[in-house]
Amino acid sequence: MKRTIVGAVAFIFVAMMTVVAQAEVKGEQIFKQKCAMCHVVNGKGGKIGPELTKIASSMKEKNIRMQLENPKKRNPSTPMPSFNTLPKADLDALIGYLKTLK
Ligand code: HEC
Repeated sequence: MKRTIVGAVAFIFVAMMTVVAQAEVKGEQIFKQKCAMCHVVNGKGGKIGPELTKIASSMKEKNIRMQLENPKKRNPSTPMPSFNTLPKADLDALIGYLKTLK
């Protein structure tokens, strides 16, 4: 009985880690499609947008979300488009990926 419980807990743990890892991979894919042309990241900073390789250290999640949903709030003449039409799951995956950059 005890072993079954340990096994079940281990299984759930591994399953959860996989979900988290997949969300990060998805976030990275979305980033490459929609953000990298301005921001780059692993090739370091972009020409148009600022470098984001350490963004999670300098910006709170709340502010990152605000920047994605309404970039004009901070800078009315920003070239960065709003991503508030992105499905919530994609936005969350994207933010999950950005949170790994620190
Ligand atoms: C058309 C180019 C462009 C695209 C596409 C773009 N950005 Fe930006 N981004 C900018 C610019 C330029 C800034 C500089 C701040 C400003 O203009 O207000 C910025 C700022 C940011 C900031 C704040 C950085 C800081 O240090 O203050 C974050 C976070 C960010 N962008 C994330 C993203 C993400 C995530 C995506 C994709 C979903 C994205 N951006 C797409 C141009 C872009």
